[in-house]
Amino acid sequence: MKIIIVTGASSGLGRGFAEALGTRETIDEVWVIARRADRLEELKNTIKTKVVPISLDLSVNECIEKYKNLLADKNPEVVALVNAAGFGRFGEFENITLSDQMGMIDLNVASLTAVTYLTIPYLTEGAEVYQLGSFSAFLPLPYVGVYAATKAYVLSFSRSLAVELRHRKIRVMAVCPKWVRTEFFDRAAEQPDVVTYYDRFYTVDQVVKRALRDMKRGKDVSTCGIHARTEARLLKLLPAKLAMKIWCRQQKK
Ligand SMILES: NC(=O)c1ccc[n+]([C@@H]2O[C@H](COP(=O)([O-])OP(=O)(O)OC[C@H]3O[C@@H](n4cnc5c(N)ncnc54)[C@H](OP(=O)(O)O)[C@@H]3O)[C@@H](O)[C@H]2O)c1
Repeated sequence: MKIIIVTGASSGLGRGFAEALGTRETIDEVWVIARRADRLEELKNTIKTKVVPISLDLSVNECIEKYKNLLADKNPEVVALVNAAGFGRFGEFENITLSDQMGMIDLNVASLTAVTYLTIPYLTEGAEVYQLGSFSAFLPLPYVGVYAATKAYVLSFSRSLAVELRHRKIRVMAVCPKWVRTEFFDRAAEQPDVVTYYDRFYTVDQVVKRALRDMKRGKDVSTCGIHARTEARLLKLLPAKLAMKIWCRQQKK
């Protein structure tokens, strides 16, 4: 049984990836994972291939165990994995609750690592792994500090894994978009007066299309938009202190 697995599929980018990859005719099932079961059920209306909703809180160890057991039980051939479950909180470090700070690390770093680790034995030759990083992975970002650090982890981890899995012809790519208008901001921007300047927004469709195209081209990092890619290149040349100064000035900090 050939399947695609998408975490964070109940909204935003995960949903976009599930709908785009779900059009592939060679697959039997799309496993969609998130906490909100009703939202996962809705995907049956937009994806022709059989959708299997799996309601799991990936920040909880028992749910990771359930995921492991599900794979062992069904023994699927995984042709694509998308790790899109994640969240961010913006604000002064000391004013974000410890539970949210640790929650970002648990979900964006620990659960992404666990899901990737547990899925690797089931990945077929030629499989695709999309890891949702972020543009914030490219620089230290005051007022988005822990979130950006979790995404720097995703970028670093995914690029090294891409090298390790090359011999099995498995492609791993970090997807690092700038701002995308999704439910992400309902939680991220709860303190509305801290991060106030967003230079431009991309759509889910643009980010997903670019990622699929970059995967075909064998890239290990995908950044949607010419402006964003140019900025990412500039950031490699700029001292981090200067880059942070510019960001803080944009945020009037
Ligand atoms: N939006 C942006 O500007 C942006 C930019 C760059 C990167 N990203 C990254 O892209 C990814 C997707 O974000 P998005 O913008 O699509 O946000 P979103 O619309 O809020 O989607 C987040 C997804 O993660 C799931 N999720 C959250 N906590 C979970 C948990 N504990 N267990 C299982 N699933 C959980 C949510 O589903 P449930 O609530 O149903 O569990 C939802 O499906 C994230 O990793 C984010 O960091 C976003």
